[in-house]
Amino acid sequence: MATAKDTPITNTSMMRFVGKVAVVTAGASGIGAAAAQRLHAEGASVVVGDINSEGIDRLAKEFGDRFLGVRCDVTQEREVHALMGAAIDRFGRIDVACCVTGGGGHGGILETDEVSWRRCFDLTLTSTFFTVKHSARRMIDANRGGSIVTVSSICAQIPQGAGYSSAKAGVEMFTKVAALELGEHAIRVNAVAPGRTATSATEKTDFVVGPAWVNQTPLGRIGSPEEIAAAMAFLASDEAGFISGANLTVDGAFSTSTFSHIYPKLAHRPALAHQIGQPF
Ligand SMILES: NC(=O)c1ccc[n+]([C@@H]2O[C@H](COP(=O)([O-])OP(=O)(O)OC[C@H]3O[C@@H](n4cnc5c(N)ncnc54)[C@H](O)[C@@H]3O)[C@@H](O)[C@H]2O)c1
Repeated sequence: MATAKDTPITNTSMMRFVGKVAVVTAGASGIGAAAAQRLHAEGASVVVGDINSEGIDRLAKEFGDRFLGVRCDVTQEREVHALMGAAIDRFGRIDVACCVTGGGGHGGILETDEVSWRRCFDLTLTSTFFTVKHSARRMIDANRGGSIVTVSSICAQIPQGAGYSSAKAGVEMFTKVAALELGEHAIRVNAVAPGRTATSATEKTDFVVGPAWVNQTPLGRIGSPEEIAAAMAFLASDEAGFISGANLTVDGAFSTSTFSHIYPKLAHRPALAHQIGQPF
């Protein structure tokens, strides 16, 4: 089975963030850590907010200078406010914010209780609201514009758990609302929507659902955190200067394959056809 480990090394020879400051929530592991790594490698000073102190310490050793780790629970507004304050105190500005936290809510409607429903929305949608609100305020104060990248999921468009899909759909709409409201301040807001990506969040279920995802993905593998981070860095950079309110799907074409079993040219291909009708 092809895996994300087989993917080509992402080109990091560009230096698009020299002199800039990026705040990344959930930056201590997975997609957030890859985004922090990419932005740092391209010259940014990076501030990571996460509840995982060990992960933050690991990044501090790896990054050396141009790094600040802050223990921050992004479901708490005062902690997100403090995270942005710490970034300003240390580096004097915020140019980029990446709202990466999200998760939970993978059960069906009848099995989901109120606590886990609210937890999923707090972690996925409310945290995005807090991060956009408090990073944008700092960007507006500085009057230099900025770029904000949210993290949705292909599950915003394809049902995958009542809470998770609903909260991610909320992230996509919130991203458009933020782009509309903040454009007058030269702040761009865009989302990436990853397909299945090899992180600690997915490795627990890989042996159950991994092959189904791979078979259903036209590129024949799942993604790597570095590939999601590359898309985030593009949206955060000046190269995407006229892109705002967009949702960039990064899924190896998974979301095109819903009807692959009745697509005439592909119907003979078992890799894309035989999983149809089986649950992920
Ligand atoms: N991995 C995938 O297949 C996939 C696919 C689509 C979307 N996503 C989205 O990408 C994002 C990152 O997922 P991942 O797979 O890298 O997860 P991960 O489990 O590898 O990392 C999650 C990070 O979030 C941190 N975190 C958890 N709760 C927090 C809180 N309250 N405050 C601050 N930090 C907190 C954890 O400590 C950890 O460092 C999520 O929004 C997820 O929904 C992931």
